[in-house]
Amino acid sequence: MNIKIPDKAKLILERLSAAGFEAYVVGGCVRDSILGRVPGDWDITTSAKPEEVKALFDRTIDTGIEHGTVTVMLGKEGFEVTTYRLDGKYEDGRHPKEVTFTPSLEEDLKRRDFTINAMAYNPDAGLVDLFGGMDDIDRGVIRCVGKATERFNEDALRIMRAVRFAAQLGYDIDEETAVAIEVLSGNLKKISAERIRVELTKLIDSDHPELLKKAWELGITKVILPEFDKMMETVQNNPHHMYSVGEHSLVAMQNITNDKYLRLTMLFHDIGKPGVKTTDENGVDHFHGHQEVGEAMTKDIMRRLKFDNDSIHFVSKLVRYHDFGNGIVPTMKIVRRAINKIGPDIFPLLEKVRFADIAAQSPFKREEKIQNVKLTYDIYREIERLDQCVSLKTLALNGSDLIAMGHKPGKEIGEILQKLLDEVLEEPELNTKENLTTLVKRWENESEN
Ligand code: CTP
Repeated sequence: MNIKIPDKAKLILERLSAAGFEAYVVGGCVRDSILGRVPGDWDITTSAKPEEVKALFDRTIDTGIEHGTVTVMLGKEGFEVTTYRLDGKYEDGRHPKEVTFTPSLEEDLKRRDFTINAMAYNPDAGLVDLFGGMDDIDRGVIRCVGKATERFNEDALRIMRAVRFAAQLGYDIDEETAVAIEVLSGNLKKISAERIRVELTKLIDSDHPELLKKAWELGITKVILPEFDKMMETVQNNPHHMYSVGEHSLVAMQNITNDKYLRLTMLFHDIGKPGVKTTDENGVDHFHGHQEVGEAMTKDIMRRLKFDNDSIHFVSKLVRYHDFGNGIVPTMKIVRRAINKIGPDIFPLLEKVRFADIAAQSPFKREEKIQNVKLTYDIYREIERLDQCVSLKTLALNGSDLIAMGHKPGKEIGEILQKLLDEVLEEPELNTKENLTTLVKRWENESEN
């Protein structure tokens, strides 16, 4: 096994080694190199104590000195160099509460979460794989180092990391590891929302977002996203559907490009359904108002998971309008109004959302639905090409123009602009300064008479 280490990381290994210490690249970068993925960062593990590391390099930062981590700066790049250590319980996932340094690489590797993350490498020693990491890569298995319950008790977030790595790599979870997850998944309630969010996002923004089902089977979503369990329990006896709400949403996630906003949207788009389900006299299920309920729930859940405001805005709006336009024959006028109502930032993203949703429904009227979306977005692109006005931003008259015409600053200006926009949405050719000025003057005269 030959791993191509970037020059700067190699220089760090060489300098530590020349000073008589052991040093290896370790963890994620070794795993990713073996898998042919591009490592995010190159972590280094060494027998040198933090003070000894600092003495060897000009520029270092005490990133986590009490945990044995020093960041070595080479140019603009930083490399985390951590002393071999044994861990106590983790506080935040990267930093255990108390650590003991050890002279043994084996001890350091033993405390890591999964076999595929517990390999070290340097050009002299080659690959150090003491726990069968390579075998597990060959078999495609996520397996804890040593006793799974111990690893998960050290840091419950590892429970989510197991499913997240399985989703990113398309791997299975080893039996003992899976059993330990089932037993201990309740401990996730002790983990901060931020850390849960990071893992959940990585899971659904992976090649296998459908592995969220595994998280459900193992009792993880019950703790971090109980709303998803409700979706899995909600059957849809309706000609448009062939899956439960939860299964439908899993397929919808698979149907869309892996983009954080879009995957979250497909996960949440029908989250309002369980709460509004009714069954008619023919036994057909309906979900009236699930879009509005879904929007509110999406906001709540995303706030709870400490998502940023931009993400909350985009995803909740996409959820609100995910099936907007279904059953309406689109025209230029209808689409201009829809862009204005939904927002020029949201509207274009809905194209993929609607296709992904439709493809996860039953074949009933599928072709019709697809044609409807296609036509809507052909029209949308035509509106874009013609540069037609769909919002106040591109209205040919603005507030200052109205003030110059003698209107008082304040609420009235907003109302006039809105009225003008309304006219322009009906008739885009009206959108010139001259036309709109004439229109305003006419309204002024009308109100005077
Ligand atoms: N690690 C661990 N337990 C954790 C977090 C990390 O044992 N809860 C160890 C693993 O050996 C891991 C290494 O620390 O490979 C680096 O962790 P991190 O940077 O969080 O993850 P990566 O494995 O590099 O993966 P990714 O970058 O995809 O998060």
